Amino acid sequence: MSGDSHLPKALQGLRIPAVASPLFIISVPALVIAQCKAGIIGSFPALNAREGEGEHPLLDTWLTEIREELDRHNQENPDTPAAPFAVNQIVHRSNTRLERDIELCHKHKVPIWITSLGARVEVNDAAHDCGGIALHDIINNKFAKKAIEKGADGLIAVAAGAGGHAGPQSPLALISEIREWFDGPLLLSGSIGTGASLLAAQAMGADLGYIGTPFIATEEANAVQGYKDMIVDSGADDIVYSSLFTGVSGNYLKGSISNAGMDPDNLPEGDVKTMDFGDDREKPKAWKTIWGSGQGIGAVKDVLPTAELVNRIEREYIAAWERLQGRMK
Ligand SMILES: Cc1cc2nc3c(=O)[nH]c(=O)nc-3n(C[C@H](O)[C@H](O)[C@H](O)COP(=O)(O)O)c2cc1C
Repeated sequence: MSGDSHLPKALQGLRIPAVASPLFIISVPALVIAQCKAGIIGSFPALNAREGEGEHPLLDTWLTEIREELDRHNQENPDTPAAPFAVNQIVHRSNTRLERDIELCHKHKVPIWITSLGARVEVNDAAHDCGGIALHDIINNKFAKKAIEKGADGLIAVAAGAGGHAGPQSPLALISEIREWFDGPLLLSGSIGTGASLLAAQAMGADLGYIGTPFIATEEANAVQGYKDMIVDSGADDIVYSSLFTGVSGNYLKGSISNAGMDPDNLPEGDVKTMDFGDDREKPKAWKTIWGSGQGIGAVKDVLPTAELVNRIEREYIAAWERLQGRMK
């Protein structure tokens, strides 16, 4: 991609302006490697590498595997090198592994660090110390300013309609408020399911799109077939915004809530105090049965290999650009 020279090196040269976002449980090395080989930034939450006591850290093994596989790809395909990868750190007091995971990411010189649920100077310092950049996800302008004050290099604006813990604000409002004072790397998260939506994110002022849910319906995703099929069969009407399951408001597939015996249209409020990212937490069960999804799934018609999904988004991105240029003549 040309026209990206204002961005840090790690975000330049992508095939399309996109980061595949980290997905709890779902993003595993096979998916990350496929995303990077397809030419977009792949990512995973460090906590996905779940570990039993006394074992060699699985995160260490995953980081070695991703690095080796991408290096091999780059040697064999010097004209189409893989994009860099990112690791997501959940910076929440219940994440008891944070310090250890930061050390491992520092050791492996992770090029892009994505922080969620808390902006901390020492995490950004660790990223910079090993030559990486730090992107922090936020849901409003106030948190965006705080993140930059604490040393993040860029922002991920998580707008209404995003999968997982979505914000309540319109992407148009959020991006334009941030762009009044911030000219650094800005990513938009929420319902980007097509190449046209990706172009729209850039038109409104974002540098890159942050795409999550469509990657659940890929062959490489660590999700059960029923989850993948429900993404394919559902649309925006089938998503409900609720704080019940983690204490923080997020978007979920109504069908998974009905399957768990609850009425998705009459859910009680959740309690933020119940949020827990400890390694022994019960929460994965909630994510395993109650399935997160953004609203932008109307465009997901099949479970595809990741490379084919990225091909589709690229085709649509180019077509949308040509259509717009035609209208501007
Ligand atoms: C099932 C699921 C799990 C998620 N897990 C995480 C996570 O562990 N860490 C994180 O920062 N974001 C997480 N997210 C949010 C995504 O990174 C991203 O903001 C969102 O998926 C983008 O919106 P979209 O799904 O509409 O594309 C998750 C989203 C979903 C759908």
